[in-house]
Amino acid sequence: MQIRKVMVVGAGQMGAGIAQVFATAGYDVFLHDVAPIAIEKGIRGIEQQLHRQVEKEALTEEEKQRILSQLHATPDITAAKEADLVIEAIIEQMDKKQALFSQLDELAPSHAILATNTSSLPITEIAAVTKRPENVIGMHFMNPVPVMKLVEVIRGLATSDVVYETIYETTKTLNKVAVEVQDFPGFVSNRILMPMINEAIYTLYEGIATKEAIDDVMKLGMRHPMGPLTLADFIGLDTCLFIMETLHDGFGDDKYRPCPLLRKYVKAGWLGKKVGKGFFTYQ
Ligand code: CAA
Repeated sequence: MQIRKVMVVGAGQMGAGIAQVFATAGYDVFLHDVAPIAIEKGIRGIEQQLHRQVEKEALTEEEKQRILSQLHATPDITAAKEADLVIEAIIEQMDKKQALFSQLDELAPSHAILATNTSSLPITEIAAVTKRPENVIGMHFMNPVPVMKLVEVIRGLATSDVVYETIYETTKTLNKVAVEVQDFPGFVSNRILMPMINEAIYTLYEGIATKEAIDDVMKLGMRHPMGPLTLADFIGLDTCLFIMETLHDGFGDDKYRPCPLLRKYVKAGWLGKKVGKGFFTYQ
């Protein structure tokens, strides 16, 4: 199956990053969001990213203009009628995702693949509201999308082999690496990453070390590019809590119990870098 036109639904940090990498790889991309202001912000962010690359001479001005010309701000969701691939990157709420997938199922051509960038929700449950569960798949990009090489490709219970192969090949054209994963809570990335972050928060909560010391141990001792508490801030503490709850509920195992300190920070609105305060403070 040939993918030419891609629609990204949700113009936040992840959606904008996904739109940027597809446009860079030469696809025509529609960027849609229910809030037109979010689309504008998303496109502006992409322009800034590309501008930085031009300044670093990683991209020419002509290439930047070519990429921008392939990005179309699309406030109207009926643009899905033209898409070969739709990637959803909206809020992590099952009811909202299911409502969107029902709508996309009505609009998108029958051959179109409907993908979700969910970080932990079951692909099979999202696919179940459509009449094409064989064409529904998870494409989990990592943040920052333009930098990180991995795309976790998650097969729902009904995902067909041809859809998996198409997404695998498409991911290669983005200069990224697809890794095949089955549909269980947290997939592979967050099943391993989030308990590590949660344990770092417990280590702080129990007074074993300062936040700086915990991050230094993992950066200097394990060569992680960021310490786990900084990474949690970077991901968003609300997202970290949501993923831990998904693991806890999904496996029914107390080893995934979210740390009370994480809950407290989220209740305080200390959500990390995006609000300027989490475990650390940001300008
Ligand atoms: N968007 C685009 N490019 C970015 C960027 C962003 N937000 N942030 C940094 N970069 C680019 C920089 O421009 C720079 O590019 P060049 O090498 O071409 O100059 C490169 O990344 C390195 O950046 P810096 O030198 O500024 O900083 P750094 O060396 O500390 O790298 C980092 C920054 C790549 C973010 C690095 O700290 C890192 O790898 N951190 C861990 C990220 C990670 O673990 N991500 C996964 C999060 S989990 C997830 O996404 C899944 C989930 O479901 C929760």
